[in-house]
Amino acid sequence: MPQYNFFLGNHPALSTAEIKAVFSAEDVNYEITGKKGKNLFVSTDKKINSLKIMDKLGGTIKIARAVDKKKDTVSDIVDFLQNTQSEGKIQFSLSGADQKDALKIKKILKETGRNVRYVEIKNTASIIHNNLVEKQGDLSMIDGLIFVTEAVQPIEELSRRDFGRPGSDSLSGMLPPKLARIMINLADAPFASKILDAFCGSGTILTEAIAMGYKNIFGSDLSERAIEDTETNIQWYLQEKNLNDIKYKLFLSDAANLDNVIEKNSIQAIISEPYMGKPLHGNEGKIYILKQTEELAQLYINSFKTLHKILRQDGSIIFIIPTFKIKNELVKIDCIDEIKKIGFNVEPLSEESPFLRYGREGQHLARDVWKFVKK
Ligand SMILES: C[S@@+](CC[C@H](N)C(=O)[O-])C[C@H]1O[C@@H](n2cnc3c(N)ncnc32)[C@H](O)[C@@H]1O
Repeated sequence: MPQYNFFLGNHPALSTAEIKAVFSAEDVNYEITGKKGKNLFVSTDKKINSLKIMDKLGGTIKIARAVDKKKDTVSDIVDFLQNTQSEGKIQFSLSGADQKDALKIKKILKETGRNVRYVEIKNTASIIHNNLVEKQGDLSMIDGLIFVTEAVQPIEELSRRDFGRPGSDSLSGMLPPKLARIMINLADAPFASKILDAFCGSGTILTEAIAMGYKNIFGSDLSERAIEDTETNIQWYLQEKNLNDIKYKLFLSDAANLDNVIEKNSIQAIISEPYMGKPLHGNEGKIYILKQTEELAQLYINSFKTLHKILRQDGSIIFIIPTFKIKNELVKIDCIDEIKKIGFNVEPLSEESPFLRYGREGQHLARDVWKFVKK
């Protein structure tokens, strides 16, 4: 059975939930065989198309397949490189192993008359620039097994959509495109179905959805500026990629009034990072934060009442609910029970927790990702 290592980003639990969702969408039969730090080990019943899977994922940095173990590390790598790079200069990198092994491998290969270059890898960009995925030359040793990298995250493409796009509203803040992708995957909606971001801001989720292959896009926001930014960013992406089969509609609307403009029972998935309150400086008192959480709870509950109407039966909502940090205390928004009463079930995103947190040390706010399914 082929064995893989998924090298995950900074939020391994979210990345793991995303991988499970993508495997289910791609009908991959798999078993998670282990976890170690940011490494997720998976065995599958047949080889997977790592490039295609990577093309969908937001939370995985690298996908690597285990090489058959025959003799010892050095001889196995020498045999592997001779077979995979049978002509021209051999180029390889080796992480997780004793550097002496890399030099031994280089020496043995040179003695067979081959031209060899050992590449020191600093980050995924250097794997891409040295064409090591195509050459099957990026090797790593993990838990005594040799892995060959089959796909790496297209980090430069993601950054281009992050920083290169024309319209970005610094007031509403921006969701990292990788997290947008993870959220879209968790929704598990077919590419032809209608998807909506009801708080679209500058359109990060919608642009990412188009980049992933979604063709029927709806977006809305209360702010005129946000709708203009979203329009500019979507147009920029469609022109960059020369896409002309994407249908998208944007509405200037309060999320709680969307049933006036969007047909009932029509949307398959809603993926949103809503308004999360006024930017925090860290010196706000508890009373201020509690007042803000009450207002946000009301905003989310009112929005969910309407979103329930426009969502199809069994449709889902992937929604960020912020948790605030004051000093060492976490303040959550109390809205889950009310959302359930409206007619939603919470679909837990992991065995350990119903939601998964995305946040960095030192931030005043963490983003909790939840999945709700219409009953
Ligand atoms: C955190 S931002 C979303 C950012 C977006 N994910 C992005 O990456 O660009 C929240 C957005 O919610 C909008 N908003 C606030 N209250 C709203 C409401 N009641 N209905 C719809 N949109 C609202 C704001 O105008 C803002 O653009």
